[in-house]
Amino acid sequence: MSTSPNGSPRVAIVTGAARGIGAATALRLAQDGFAVAVIDLREDDARGTVEAIEAAGGRALAVGADVGDAEQVQAAVGRIADELGPPVVLVNNAGVTRDNMLFKMSDVDWDVVMRVHLRGSFLMTRAAQEHMIEAKFGRIVNLSSTSALGNRGQANYATAKAGLQGFTKTLAIELGKFGVTANSIAPGFIQTEMTRATAERIGEEWESYVAKRAAAIPVARAGVPEDIAHTVSFLVSEGAGFVSGQVIYVAGGPRT
Ligand code: CAA
Repeated sequence: MSTSPNGSPRVAIVTGAARGIGAATALRLAQDGFAVAVIDLREDDARGTVEAIEAAGGRALAVGADVGDAEQVQAAVGRIADELGPPVVLVNNAGVTRDNMLFKMSDVDWDVVMRVHLRGSFLMTRAAQEHMIEAKFGRIVNLSSTSALGNRGQANYATAKAGLQGFTKTLAIELGKFGVTANSIAPGFIQTEMTRATAERIGEEWESYVAKRAAAIPVARAGVPEDIAHTVSFLVSEGAGFVSGQVIYVAGGPRT
């Protein structure tokens, strides 16, 4: 059970939590005892995750917000603080892909990916950090990717995911003395709607796409969202206070 010194449940925010890694993380943090704010673009989309948390006996709030929009972020974090309590855990998970070869990549496809991952994580973290400083406790987890090491067709996404690693290390340096840690998780191949959409887009059958990817993974299986949720659970725990500024590759094998 994760409680603040006054005994009330700690509040966690997970962005992009309607589906996939975000939804699994929100569910896991609720199981760990957090009250969870489930942010996604539309409040209606976030409701499914909230209902799943409530059905399991947890507490959650659906919040619709575009993380790239400063006013919407400010309003969302304010509402979360009012309705659930001050957020002291932030998982910046919201993300999009707009894959294409560099020579065919549009300005818009570059900007959209930067806006959601980089501007979104910056705005969310800037808004949430004051509650962490006040509480003298905070945990920030930014979702990077193995694509940060380079991936064909992902000049935009790889750049954003590498950028989040630098962002994470800087947060760790600036916020450490206030009891706030910042870490990054870099997932490898995880079975989600996003990777399913990639397979569909490039015309590969899902089962063979997964099997091909799994064959290149040392633990001989593809990842599932719960693999990432488990790592988030550790990083935001009370006992992980001496782990900060790290990038953990959760990819079924080593990455450099
Ligand atoms: N100028 C001119 N021509 C060029 C060029 C340039 N600068 N660079 C390459 N070309 C040519 C190539 O030579 C090739 O020509 P030929 O076909 O004549 O050989 C052509 O342009 C492009 O070839 P492709 O057919 O391979 O390219 P494509 O446009 O069909 O798409 C791709 C390639 C974008 C990589 C596409 O296959 C794709 O989207 N793949 C998936 C990418 C991926 O791995 N995404 C990860 C999703 S999972 C995720 O994101 C989650 C996570 O965190 C890991």
